[in-house]
Amino acid sequence: MKSYVLGAVSGLAIVASTAASAGPEAEVLHYWTSGGEAKSVAVLQEEFASNGGTWTDMPVAGGGGDAAMTALRARVLSGNAPTAVQLKGPAIQEWYEEGVLADITAVAEANNWADVLPASIAGHMKCEDTWCAAPVNVHRVDWIWANADVLNANGIAMPTTWDEFNAAAEKLQAAGIIPLAHGGQAWQDATVFEAVALGILGADGFRKAFVDLDIDTLKSDEMVAVFDQMRTMRGFVDDNFSGRDWNLATAMVMNGEAAFQIMGDWAKGEFLAAGKAPGEDFLCASTPGEGFLYNVDSFAMFDVDGDDKKAGQELLAKLVVGQNFQKVFNLNKGSIPARTDVSLDEFDSCALLSADDMQASSDSGSLLPSYAHGMAMRGAQAGAITDVVTAHFNSDMSSQEAVEMLANAVANSL
Ligand code: BGC
Repeated sequence: MKSYVLGAVSGLAIVASTAASAGPEAEVLHYWTSGGEAKSVAVLQEEFASNGGTWTDMPVAGGGGDAAMTALRARVLSGNAPTAVQLKGPAIQEWYEEGVLADITAVAEANNWADVLPASIAGHMKCEDTWCAAPVNVHRVDWIWANADVLNANGIAMPTTWDEFNAAAEKLQAAGIIPLAHGGQAWQDATVFEAVALGILGADGFRKAFVDLDIDTLKSDEMVAVFDQMRTMRGFVDDNFSGRDWNLATAMVMNGEAAFQIMGDWAKGEFLAAGKAPGEDFLCASTPGEGFLYNVDSFAMFDVDGDDKKAGQELLAKLVVGQNFQKVFNLNKGSIPARTDVSLDEFDSCALLSADDMQASSDSGSLLPSYAHGMAMRGAQAGAITDVVTAHFNSDMSSQEAVEMLANAVANSL
């Protein structure tokens, strides 16, 4: 009894002292839970804390963020939005239209975001004429990762066409190696699909299909060829692919069980977190074809009450676009900085390739938003496309049936 009373008293004392030392605070909803991702978000937690902030972590596991977005909707509907949320692409503007986002224009202007961010990235962070999100990076989606020893031992070079990829995969399969490490989750199917689509449709065709949602392109012969290639690739994954998390697929490439993975460069974060070196242990190359599919992670702040939370939002927004954070976070995350004025001296060869290709594709008009990672279109349309991609990958549906279903699904979602 006595100890209970003492416990209660000391509990009160803690509450009182917390209230007295209040400062910037943020409850942050994110889905960075794999090894490489957790190391990356720790950089932000540390920087936030060393600037006097109190961070309440709300991680929601699930690659690609589908589960996190479901959790977010539940929180907002119950009138209890988190202070800051890992949110990106047109979903930012969708939440803005629901009237639940905080305006961070003052932070953006005080820190000259308009001068240090490329216009293509800044555009995603704006809601009408206000700033409503803060970008942390540029992930590239159209990457192929490989185990260097496995390729060497089998006399295989990184493929530069889909035919080369198929030939390499057949050779590996004959040698008893799983050609393609894949996790059968809808967003991972979509990730592979959009890389194949970029390669086969080309940048203009990709834009027509996944930015303009042009129905003729969605049911074109070229799109039939995209589904044909998906069917071929279905034959290159192992029997246990269903439901597998993306980072476990990356681990299969790391340990030599599989040769390739097609995944955004958050996979590089996993290789690095496991102590693997690019060019030695693992290889990176863009998937066959021209263009660059970008995926910019960002944070949006939700409308919350309380000066401490508002101060937390301001501090967080300022830090994530800060030069130091953009460097250290992205060294861990596998991406490159969103800011144009961060030195890439400490970045590896895959990051340098990404930065060069991003510039070149921006110059040539083939820098494109990733549909699979929520950058190209609104949720309803992206969901309609992914449903077809997954249904095709997991059945014996013909490519012709798939394109018809795709065109109908998109037409109905418009
Ligand atoms: C996000 C990355 C994340 C990956 C896996 C992507 O959509 O942009 O930050 O690492 O999903 O969850």
